[in-house]
Amino acid sequence: MPTKAEFFAKNKYVVYEKAISAEVARLGAQYAIFDALQDWKDEGTMANNAQVPGSHSKYADPFMESLELLLLPKVEESTGLSLYPTYSYYRLYKPGDDLLPHTDRPACEISLTINLGYSYNTNIKDYSWDIWVEGKSFRTEPGDMIIYRGLEMNHWREPFAAGRGSWQVQAFLHYVDANGPYAMCKFDGRPSLGYPANFKQPQLDSLAENLAASNFSKPNLSNSILYVTR
Ligand SMILES: [Fe+2]
Repeated sequence: MPTKAEFFAKNKYVVYEKAISAEVARLGAQYAIFDALQDWKDEGTMANNAQVPGSHSKYADPFMESLELLLLPKVEESTGLSLYPTYSYYRLYKPGDDLLPHTDRPACEISLTINLGYSYNTNIKDYSWDIWVEGKSFRTEPGDMIIYRGLEMNHWREPFAAGRGSWQVQAFLHYVDANGPYAMCKFDGRPSLGYPANFKQPQLDSLAENLAASNFSKPNLSNSILYVTR
């Protein structure tokens, strides 16, 4: 039986069940629902490249930034990498939402999606709204997370096919390899975790995107070839 880190090194993803307790997950889901009531942020009005317009979502929410920090040791253990946190995001999904197949930006080199809770209004027995990663679907319960290489692994969700009143809360926590080519994305260009988006260095995303494009056009480029050691 391989360790999580061995599995991740080979497959570029790993499942981690019960990464947080059901109780902490329930706290996160309740928090997200109350946050949506008090401070609704429609992704469609926040970003011109909205993935799920009309749903509540937030960058660097203090609760989710705290979760990012809490899970850092578990993500390092599961990937076998030393990591820098970059940023957190969360979304309160509603019926009809989907997520088109995509890969993420360099600050999401090592990404995870964690289920904080759901409520399904459906007659379909054992309905579950799965996440797909490179052709495999994963059923998760509150507290379960899937860690994957966000720049490389295509991921998506089929339409959320439960009825009116259904919801699901997912947090997306992103990290970079502290010894890898995207270490520059530490804290997503902010002074530390916990700061809002307006503290980001404005040029960081395009710098990192250029680097990623260059790296992908030269397979196996890593930090090591930037230095002549002998
Ligand atoms: Fe993504």
